[in-house]
Amino acid sequence: MFRVIDHPLAADLLTVLRDRHTEPPEFRETAERLGYLLVAEALTDMPLDEVEIETPLEHTTGHRLHRPVVAVAVLRAGLGLLESVLTLVPDAAIGFAGVQRDEDTAQPVEYYTKFPTLVDARVLILEPMLATGGSLSWAVGKVKENGARDITAVCVVASPEGVARMQLDHPDVRIVAATLDRELNDRFYITPGLGDMGDRLFGTI
Ligand code: URA
Repeated sequence: MFRVIDHPLAADLLTVLRDRHTEPPEFRETAERLGYLLVAEALTDMPLDEVEIETPLEHTTGHRLHRPVVAVAVLRAGLGLLESVLTLVPDAAIGFAGVQRDEDTAQPVEYYTKFPTLVDARVLILEPMLATGGSLSWAVGKVKENGARDITAVCVVASPEGVARMQLDHPDVRIVAATLDRELNDRFYITPGLGDMGDRLFGTI
């Protein structure tokens, strides 16, 4: 399942991220705001448990999330969506997938992974730029090796090539994005895109 969020706020925030004149402080804040919409969409079908509670006025039935949420940030760019998850789901456990893109081949090269318990959790993989799909496919393979079965990728910009690759490699994984862009260029950047998300977040341009 691939879903693009269709909301005026998402379009507005995405335009700020795309603008080359947006400096890192505003870029980070805007990514966090857009992250709220993306994470809410990624949890839209979360099963709930009924719970009995007392309001100040009377007894009522409420609902709590049925299973834990784990966010796995694909380094570095995934860090830009982490605060959004932790604000909406403060008790989410956090994992990290350190993968670097080989600049010549665009193949993922692992340098660090650390995961909490993934079994029975809704696992959100934070991979803002779904370009070739190599890093996301690799990260999904890693979390599956560690027991994850309920996986949703949270992306800001997706490319048709990346979505097609994920549908081949991991058709069971849901993908939520703020946009499906036109194509990859010959350096594997998404166009029109927003440039290198890690550089834009952390000012390393
Ligand atoms: N990673 C990015 O940060 N930007 C792209 O356009 C592609 C991959």
